[in-house]
Amino acid sequence: MLLHIPDVLTPEEVAYCRQKLEAGAWIDGKATAGYQSAKAKDNQQLDEGDPAAQEMGSIILGALERNATFLSAALPHKVFPPLFNRYEGGQNFATHVDNAIRQVKGTPHRVRTDLSATLFFTGPEEYDGGELVVEDTYGVHSVKLPAGHMVLYPGTSLHHVRAVTRGARVCSFFWVQSMVRDDAARTLLFDFDMGVQRVTMDAPEHPALVQLTGVYHNLLRRWAEV
Ligand code: NI
Repeated sequence: MLLHIPDVLTPEEVAYCRQKLEAGAWIDGKATAGYQSAKAKDNQQLDEGDPAAQEMGSIILGALERNATFLSAALPHKVFPPLFNRYEGGQNFATHVDNAIRQVKGTPHRVRTDLSATLFFTGPEEYDGGELVVEDTYGVHSVKLPAGHMVLYPGTSLHHVRAVTRGARVCSFFWVQSMVRDDAARTLLFDFDMGVQRVTMDAPEHPALVQLTGVYHNLLRRWAEV
């Protein structure tokens, strides 16, 4: 499932982070790439230990904890501390697949990358190109979202970022280890939850709601690893 989640950050949070990002100490993005993706990658990043990156990462993690759509779609077990990248002057990231396991730098913590996320800090009107292009079994999806919005897609997908030919594209990117590893099972749970929520809005007294909620939790209990 590829999911667009609007308004993950408030306009105030976006504005605050943009000040930090504009003053950021950008370094060559190859620093965090594996052998195969280093050949494909041409962008800039903030160092993982950068205090501004860590502060913005905390803002993002706080926003994710409040976001019901993210929680239902990702069923997060662990979230990798958000990283930040910037593309300008023709920079791009050719087709690659993200590493299956990411170690949090300087810690023993590892995250299995079931889901990949990109959160946009610059709006589509500010740059040309820079689309995130995700290939899955349903075809090719091109994603370029307003500032503060996020896309969530399976970590198994081949993807690339098209060259930025005007302006700069600044995003946060990170990975989620889900309680439900299998994308198809996780998607089914998300669809089920959305359906239950619609019935809760339209017929809050309906007795079948308890039964349906029970089925949701029993499927989650069957499939979740925590
Ligand atoms: Ni990637």
